[in-house]
Parts: sequence; structure tokens; C-alpha cells
Amino acid sequence: MRPGAHLRFLLAALLMALSVAFVAPVTAQQVNPTADSVRERQFLDALKANPQAELQGRITIPDQRAATLERPAGRQWREFQQVTIVWIGAIVVLGMLAVLTLFYLIRGRIRLEAGPSGRTITRFNAFERFMHWLTAACFVLLALSGLNVTFGKLLLLPLIGPEAFTNLSVAAKWAHNFLAWPFMLGIALMFLVWIKDNIPGLVDVKWFAAGGGIVGKGHPPARRFNGGQKVVFWSVVIGGALLSVSGIYLIFPFVAGGVLELQFWNVVHGVVAVLMVALILAHIYIGTIGMEGAFDAMGSGEVDLNWAKTHHSLWVEEEQKKGHVPAGPNLQPAE
Ligand code: HEM
Repeated sequence: MRPGAHLRFLLAALLMALSVAFVAPVTAQQVNPTADSVRERQFLDALKANPQAELQGRITIPDQRAATLERPAGRQWREFQQVTIVWIGAIVVLGMLAVLTLFYLIRGRIRLEAGPSGRTITRFNAFERFMHWLTAACFVLLALSGLNVTFGKLLLLPLIGPEAFTNLSVAAKWAHNFLAWPFMLGIALMFLVWIKDNIPGLVDVKWFAAGGGIVGKGHPPARRFNGGQKVVFWSVVIGGALLSVSGIYLIFPFVAGGVLELQFWNVVHGVVAVLMVALILAHIYIGTIGMEGAFDAMGSGEVDLNWAKTHHSLWVEEEQKKGHVPAGPNLQPAE
């Protein structure tokens, strides 16, 4: 070998060694799991803009849904489940309790200023009371078992321990799944029976403008249901329908479509549920301690005529025209 050839060989060998030294770490870096997860993070961030995006792998089983490895929207949903809804629920429910307590301290119980007349008028018949209490009983149990999903781990688990909490949560889940059906029936019945008395009108606008007898003095005229009650009725009907549709999708997953649709209905279910709990807290307040004489309407179905005239004067006039109001004072039963 000529001396020049020796030099060229040495140079080539050096170059080869150098190229191995530089290329090898680069190749290793490509399979480095840490570096890969960094790339995955960047990839997921880039995908966040598109909620439909997903990272798919290759599978050999027929169910293509199993091929999904990552879905960025799933992380947003998990954040909603674990953090956002807990905050929304706490603010809405505790906020309503605070408002009601404050209202009670400032306004006190709404008294029947005229006093009882001793004569009563039928406000709700047995069927109306049945559908109301069916819905109400189911709602209370659905609310408690549903709130356990959101707040149970935070509030109950530390109090009663993992075993009792597991048993309670399993029972609550069954109760929730089965009571949903009579609740839906109750909502449908209330809608059909009471819609005729809940069509909004000018009288309701005037009722709100006058403060509804809740703020300010006097009690503005109202028909069978006043403006505030119509708001409760329509919120219960619309909220109940949304809870029903979203709840059915949650009981039967994938009827809604895919995981994304399921997550959407799950968010709807959670938000509507806590809003309804807050609304019903206000409703329960006004139907019990908030207003003298109100509970009788749903208890016995009979209210004092003075109560009816105070809160629903136009309705009493209609009932009088129909001959539904007894003429003389009610006979008091002998003690
Ligand atoms: C659990 C405790 C509850 C109590 C003590 C209660 C009490 C009452 C009372 C006294 C009335 C008659 C008001 C009047 O004569 O003008 C009424 C009506 C009504 N209730 Fe309830 N209720 C309860 C729960 C519920 C629930 C859970 C719902 C629905 C999810 C509901 C929906 C309604 C509706 C739509 C009306 C007619 C409109 C209105 O008065 O606001 N109630 N309730």
C-alpha cells in the first residue's frame, strides 16, 4: 500500500468511527421513552384544538373502539368530573342555602295577614298530590345519590371509611338507576296535568313587576299559579327532560354514539342536576317554612280561603264562578 493510500484508509476509518459515535445516540434517542412522552405531550397539546382528535393504535380484535389510545377531550372531561363540577355544585347549592337563610332572616315567614277564614277551598286533588309527591320523593333520593357521585369521595369517605362508602355508593347507584323511571313518569304527568295553568301571560309580568308579594308590600293578583311558580314549573319540565335524556344515555352507553357524545351528556346531566337541586331547595323553602299555609295545598289538598284570596285572587274568582267554593263557613268537627 502506498503511503498516500494508508493515509486515505486511516481518514476513512476515522470518519466511520465518528459517524457511528454521532449516529448511535440519535437512534437511541428516538426510542427513548422519556423523549417519546415529551413528543406525546406536544402532540396532545396540538390535538386539543380538535375535540374529535384521537391517538389510534393497531389492534386485531374486531371492536375498533379498543384501538383508541389517547383522546385529549377525555382529559378535559376528567378535569370537569373531578374539579369543575365540584366547584359549580358547591357554589350553586351552598349559595342557594346562604341566600335562603339570609332571606329568612330579613323577610321572615310570609304570614297570612288576614288570618284564617275557617273556610277551605280545594287546591290540588288526590291525583295531583300523588304525582307531585311521586316526583318529589324520587327527586330527593336521586339528588342525594347523585350528589354522592360528586361530593361523596370528598365528604363521606373520610367520615365513614372505604368499606361503608363502597356499600353505600353501590346501593346509591342502584337507587339512582331505578328511581329515574318513576321520576320521569312524575315529570311527564305534571307536564300534562299542569301545562294549562302554566301558560305565561301579562298577569305574570305584572306579578313580577310588583315583586310577587315576596319583596315589597301587598300581594299582586295571580291565577292558579303565579309567575314564580310558572318559572318553577317550566324549569322542572325542561330540566327534568334534559336530566331524563342525558340520564338514559348514561344508563345505556353508546346509544348516544361514542365516548365523546357520552361525555357531553354527562356534563349536561351534572350541570342541570345541581341547578335543579338549588331551585328545588328554594321551592321546598317557600312550600314549608317560607310561607304560612302553603304546605296544606300539597298536604291535605285544601287551603284556607283567605290564603287562596291573598296569593291567588284571580284563581279564587274563577273557582267561585264554577261554583267550587263552599258558600258558608265550614262546620268545625266536635272535639
Ligand atoms: C320535597 C319537598 C317538597 C315540598 C315540601 C314541596 C311543596 C310544594 C307545595 C306546598 C306546592 C304547592 C304550592 C301552591 O299551592 O301554590 C308545590 C307545588 C309544586 N311542586 Fe313541590 N314540593 C317539594 C318537592 C318538589 C320537587 C322535588 C319537585 C320537582 C322536581 C316539585 C315540583 C312542584 C311543582 C312543579 C309545583 C307546582 C308549581 C309551584 O307551586 O311551584 N316539588 N310543592
